[in-house]
Amino acid sequence: MQSIDKKYVYINTIGCQMNVYDSEQMIQHLEPMGYTASPSFEKADLIIVNTCTIRAKAEQKAFSFLGRLAKIKEKKPDMIIGVGGCIAQQEGRNILERAPFLDLVFGTHAIQRLPKHIEKITSKRCRIVDVEMASEIEELEFEKSIIPMQSAEGVSRFVTIMRGCDNYCTYCMVPYVRGREMSRDPEIIVKEARMLVASGVKEIFLLGQNVNSYGKKEGLCSFHELLSRINGIEGLLRIRFTTSHPKDLTEDLMRSFADLDRLCHHIHLPVQSGSNDVLKRMNRRYTKEVYIEKINQIRNICPEIAITSDIIVGFPGETENDFKQTLELLQLIEYDGLFAFQYSDRPNASASGFPNKISETIKQDRLNELLEFQGRITKKRNRALIGTIQEVLVEGFSKKETKNSPARKDPDYQLTGRTSTNKIVNFVCDDTSMNYRTMIGQIASVRIEKAFPHSLWGKLDRIDLTLTKIKGEESYAA
Ligand code: 5AD
Ligand code: SF4
Repeated sequence: MQSIDKKYVYINTIGCQMNVYDSEQMIQHLEPMGYTASPSFEKADLIIVNTCTIRAKAEQKAFSFLGRLAKIKEKKPDMIIGVGGCIAQQEGRNILERAPFLDLVFGTHAIQRLPKHIEKITSKRCRIVDVEMASEIEELEFEKSIIPMQSAEGVSRFVTIMRGCDNYCTYCMVPYVRGREMSRDPEIIVKEARMLVASGVKEIFLLGQNVNSYGKKEGLCSFHELLSRINGIEGLLRIRFTTSHPKDLTEDLMRSFADLDRLCHHIHLPVQSGSNDVLKRMNRRYTKEVYIEKINQIRNICPEIAITSDIIVGFPGETENDFKQTLELLQLIEYDGLFAFQYSDRPNASASGFPNKISETIKQDRLNELLEFQGRITKKRNRALIGTIQEVLVEGFSKKETKNSPARKDPDYQLTGRTSTNKIVNFVCDDTSMNYRTMIGQIASVRIEKAFPHSLWGKLDRIDLTLTKIKGEESYAA
């Protein structure tokens, strides 16, 4: 049998969870060629930058990393450097003008062709640009292009259930760089989730640009049916998903939050603006009133649900009054958390041609005001949890001790995880004989004692484990 040389690939992933999944796919495709993922780029034979272009800032980040790679390539000319993801798709060959040292530019639909390209570059020392998009006829190819994860480490893993978007919000370039919406076969998704759970994963995080319209175009099962099938997987503790478009949020899906015991009580439902004028020009296809009605409905079905959102400030033509309406909406809804962005023109997106652009200073001022405004709301919502017991899926040891926590020097001392409502909880345990490591991947009941802007802090109240003690025969249960 021919032996395969061991080689290292380093992938720098910029952007959304979808890119994280795609990077994992790249590794899956490269493994049969002898590549192993490397945590540092110094010893890598192949470096890939998986890029994002959703906002101008993400693009700057990618080009700044590419600048660093230019110097490395000078020292190690044999190293192969590739750019994938959304910038690659958008710019194609043009990237070579800014980064002439690149060996490979490959788009969002070219991941499965990665091995073929790397092989050719290695043997012929040529340069390849592949930004071909799958057409509707080639949809089946999409299914074949994903290698379901056979096993995985970690407590929580992403599973992409669909790609692309057909919505064409006027500020957004996703439909141009990710292509038309395509859903994966539910059988294959469930199989992938099952394999992940069998290898120890406890939480499955389903991904798509608009999961609410999953399967519609292809006549597959609906998203809530898919959720219900995944909910039946033995050994799985939690299911999450993102992102939802408010216009496609159905009552059936809302009911899933009450009906499915493993579905986490959190929904990310980007509203983008609180002004109907702006929403119309964004082509969001819902009004503020319809959005509020859906929020009321979902809170009726699942009162403890956490709701988060995305907001764009400074969309072309956004008046002071439009912005005020956004703040009023935040006040009314009281989101648990918010991602807010200054509008930036993106190539292809039609809003880049809209008149009445907002100055950078006004955009910055509005963003600051909005973040401060939401900061007070988040604080209030987090503080309301002080004194409650929260079920936390333990993910590992917390990276840094929070300023006010009674931390020990031992970095292993503090554990971290999330509530079903997606709040980060760092916690300690008064019982020093507890083996923290065995708690990872388990649900712990934590009494919340402190609230910070982005996390909670507490003490272990109870964990349903028989193996959590290092010493002693008895199991730990309060
Ligand atoms: N400018 C600013 N924010 C944007 N987003 C998408 N496109 C733009 C843009 N051109 C934001 C939206 C979206 C999130 C992922 O990024 O709020 O929901
Ligand atoms: Fe972009 Fe709108 Fe599609 Fe979301 S729904 S990816 S914002 S076009």
